[in-house]
Amino acid sequence: MLLSRVTLLATIPLEFNQPFQSKGMYFTYWLKCMRTTQNLLCYSINRNVSTSMMNLFRHKNAKRIEGLDKNLWVEFTKLAAAPGIVNLGQGFPDMLPPPYITEALANAAAGENFMLNQYTRGFGHPPLVKALAELYGHICGRSIDRNKEILVTVGAYGSLSHSIQGLVDEGDEVIIIEPFFDCYVPMVKMAGGIPVFISLKPVKEKVEQGMSNSGDWSLDEEELSSKFNSRTKAIIINTPNNPLGKIFKMEELKMIADLCIKHDVLCISDEVYEWLVYSGHKHIKIATLPRMWERTITIGSAGKTFSVTGWKLGWSIGPAHLIKHLQTVQQNTIYTCSTPIQEAVAGGIQKEYGRLTDEDCYFLSLPRELEVKRNRMAQILLAVGMKPVIPEGGYFMIVDVSTLNVDLPKMEGNEPYDNLFVKWMIKNKRLAAIPVSSFFSDQAKSQFEKYIRICFIKQDSTLNSAESILRNWK
Ligand SMILES: Cc1ncc(COP(=O)(O)O)c(C=O)c1O
Repeated sequence: MLLSRVTLLATIPLEFNQPFQSKGMYFTYWLKCMRTTQNLLCYSINRNVSTSMMNLFRHKNAKRIEGLDKNLWVEFTKLAAAPGIVNLGQGFPDMLPPPYITEALANAAAGENFMLNQYTRGFGHPPLVKALAELYGHICGRSIDRNKEILVTVGAYGSLSHSIQGLVDEGDEVIIIEPFFDCYVPMVKMAGGIPVFISLKPVKEKVEQGMSNSGDWSLDEEELSSKFNSRTKAIIINTPNNPLGKIFKMEELKMIADLCIKHDVLCISDEVYEWLVYSGHKHIKIATLPRMWERTITIGSAGKTFSVTGWKLGWSIGPAHLIKHLQTVQQNTIYTCSTPIQEAVAGGIQKEYGRLTDEDCYFLSLPRELEVKRNRMAQILLAVGMKPVIPEGGYFMIVDVSTLNVDLPKMEGNEPYDNLFVKWMIKNKRLAAIPVSSFFSDQAKSQFEKYIRICFIKQDSTLNSAESILRNWK
């Protein structure tokens, strides 16, 4: 140990004598000095600590995750978890799911059939893929092969990740529509792909008037067309969109579909909020447009469908020639999903499929209930001078908070205004939301940093508490 200390000390004066010819050399020298100093300090405190510090440098992350260590949900969920915070941040219901689905899970886990607590078929539990094939076959107006055209995954996250891992190659470009669900970008990067962004843009006058609708945000056709080229592998769309609540109209989907067909591009369609559609709007699956089935993977989520986000179960539906690549990723990564949860979700899908047009169907009663909450939230926000963008679907609302003129402490580094605003609001008003700039690329962030996202799938008592905070804002 003594010898090592002497050797380390000896390296400093030796390197001091060498002139620096570039900034890079200076930086390399500085790094070496820092490591040397760190080692010296560590040796004199505790040799074990020194070893672990060295490991920090030796066991560096894999290149594919370089720069991806920050995560919106990790950061803001932690802030919102402090006692006494009214949480309109992360997208989960704070109310009970339909009782029949939790009973089905309890029965699956505690029932006589011991196999319901053991591994099931890797690509999807047989009763669940059967139920999904029936439901989506009916919606898409085609027969769906339950074994080859469906894959059950760990949440919609699993489907997104498998689609991208299974289909995107090093150097492939993937078009991402902003605002986007934040994981699309790191997933594309981890696969070696290159995200190419295009923003939905609001109609200026409507936004200035103060009461706008998510339908006022649209893509510019010429700009979208300019994003497609021979390197484009896929486009990711999300309808209803998180965080905006936009539901893509038929003519918008046609525009995207025409470009996909023209350039032979795949479409990954994230439709986890497919049932949460408000009056006057209709959810359309891009996979049902002519010549789109063969190039589209449609993604759904049991968590969003049955208000059980903690169950983490999702699915991908598409042609066998695409789904088989996702299956390859699944069989070599997680292999299979939870059996009792799949059994319970199978029962839920079957039940709702049997009453799709009944008033009681959960796929209809939940959006009915949420529309009242959406309208209530919008009224409160307007009354206190904020400018909500009324969503056509989903359970989020973005809100322009610039009118409040909150005088925030000085900017730390380049942190966007909405990040600072949300942190300030959690600390000073005890109300949590999510900054909207996190759903935009670095290039576009600054144009959208006046918005925050509010989640309104909350019980009335939570909305009452939020209302009282907002009404007493001043
Ligand atoms: C647009 C979108 N896609 C995918 C997901 C992930 O869904 P899951 O919880 O089923 O993985 C979410 C969750 O919030 C989402 O909002």
